[in-house]
Amino acid sequence: MDKIIIEGGTPLAGAVTVSGAKNAALPILCSCLLTGGSHTLHNIPALRDIRTIQEILANLGVAFEVHEGVLTVNSDNLHGDTAPYQLVKTMRASVLVLGPLLSRLGKARISLPGGCAIGARPIDLHLKGLSAMGARISLEHGYVVASADKLRGADIFFDIPTVTGTENLMMAAVTAEGRTNLRNAAKEPEVVDLAAMLNGMGAHIEGAGTDTVTITGVKDLHPVTHTIIADRIEAGTFLTAAAITKGNVRIQGCRVDDLEAIIEKLLDTGMEIRREGADLVAQGNDSIKSVDIKTMPFPGFPTDMQAQFMALMCIADGWSMIRETIFENRFMHVSELQRMGADIEINGGQALVRGKGKLSGAPVMATDLRASACLVLAGLAAEGRTEITRVYHLDRGYQDLDGKLASLGSKIWREQY
Ligand code: EPU
Repeated sequence: MDKIIIEGGTPLAGAVTVSGAKNAALPILCSCLLTGGSHTLHNIPALRDIRTIQEILANLGVAFEVHEGVLTVNSDNLHGDTAPYQLVKTMRASVLVLGPLLSRLGKARISLPGGCAIGARPIDLHLKGLSAMGARISLEHGYVVASADKLRGADIFFDIPTVTGTENLMMAAVTAEGRTNLRNAAKEPEVVDLAAMLNGMGAHIEGAGTDTVTITGVKDLHPVTHTIIADRIEAGTFLTAAAITKGNVRIQGCRVDDLEAIIEKLLDTGMEIRREGADLVAQGNDSIKSVDIKTMPFPGFPTDMQAQFMALMCIADGWSMIRETIFENRFMHVSELQRMGADIEINGGQALVRGKGKLSGAPVMATDLRASACLVLAGLAAEGRTEITRVYHLDRGYQDLDGKLASLGSKIWREQY
C-alpha cells in the first residue's frame, strides 16, 4: 500500500489545472446505460471511483474504449441487471445504476450499499420515488430488487434534497410515460451536468439546478458527446491549499460560479482570490482569520469541503465553529488533526476549533476521501514531517493530488509500506 509523506512549511507557487468532477462523471457514466450506441465522454477524471463504476457497468455488458483521453461507452450488448455486493460495497454511488437499468430493462438488482464511514446514508428516498413511478421494489438477501413493466411519471417530493436520489430519479423518468416533477430536488452543479447529458441524448428535462425538476418522458434516446464539468471540490481544495501554505496559486479551468460559497468563506479568512476568466489566482495571507461555517446543500457551503476548511481553521488566529448538517459522522479527521496538535472539541454535529497558529507533523491515518485531503493540507502547513497512511481513500476522488501539489513546490511524495 502507498503512504504519503509531506515535509511541511513550503508555500505553494505556480499553476495547476482542475480535473473533471468525480460526482458528475459517476452519474453520467451510468446514464450511458439508458440507450445503445456509442457515447463519447471528455474530461473523465482518472480516479478509483471511476474505475469501480466502470467495473460495475462492464459487469452488465457495457464496453469502454479510451483514445487520447476520450472515453467511448457502448451498452449495445447489455446482458445483466445486477450490481453485486463485492463492487457496490466499495462505493455507494453504485446505486446510480438503479434508475437507468429500470428505465432500459424494466428490472434491476442492486446490492444495498451498507454502512459508510461518513454516516448511515440510506437510499429510502430513491426507492420511495421509484415506487411512486410504478416500480415494484423488494429487499431480498441484501439486494434491492426492482421491476416495472412501464415506469410512469409521478409527483415526487424529497424530504431532504438528495444528490444521487435526484439523479437516479431523473434517469428513471426520462423514458417514463408522462411527466415527473421532482420537488425539493438537489441543485448541485453535478445534477445540472447530468441533465445536460440527458437532454443531449434527447431527454426533456427542465429546471435542473432549481428545486423543481420536471422531466417529460420521451420514447427514444440516442448517444451523445459530452464534456464533464470541472471538479469544484478539487478547485476548493487547491484554494484552501494556497491559504494554508500562504502561497500563490493559479487554479486553471474552474467553474467559478460553482465555487461562490467556498470563495466567500476563504475571502473572510483574509486571503485574496482574483478571477481571471476560468482561472482563479489565490494569494494566502500571513495571518488567517477564524471563520464559522455551516455545511448546506448547494449553493451553501459543501460538506465535501468541511474537512479541508477545518485544517485551515486549525492554524487560524481565534476560534471557529464548524457545523456539519449533511452527514452525522463526518468528523473522523478530528482525532487525526488532534494528533498534529490541533485543539478541537466536538459536540454533536458541531466542532469548535481553537486556532493555534500552527500544527506539527505526525503519523496520521486517512479515514475517508475528504478526510484524506484535510490531512494532506494539514501536512503542508505543519512543522516537520507528516506520514499519511490509507491514502487509497484519496485516490478514490482526487486525480494525482500529491503530484499536482509537488508541481507547485510542495515536498510531498509516496512510499510503499
Ligand atoms: N438521505 C436520506 N435518504 C436517501 C438519500 C439521502 O436520508 O434516500 C440523506 C443522507 O443520509 C444525507 C442527505 O440525505 O444526510 C444528503 O445526502 P445525499 O443523498 O445528497 O448524498 P449522496 O447523493 O449519497 C452525494 C455525493 C457526496 C456528497 C453528497 C452531499 C456523489 C456520488 N456523492 O452523495 O460526495 O457529500 O452528495 O453533497 O455525488 C464525496 O465526494 O466525498 C462525497 C461523499
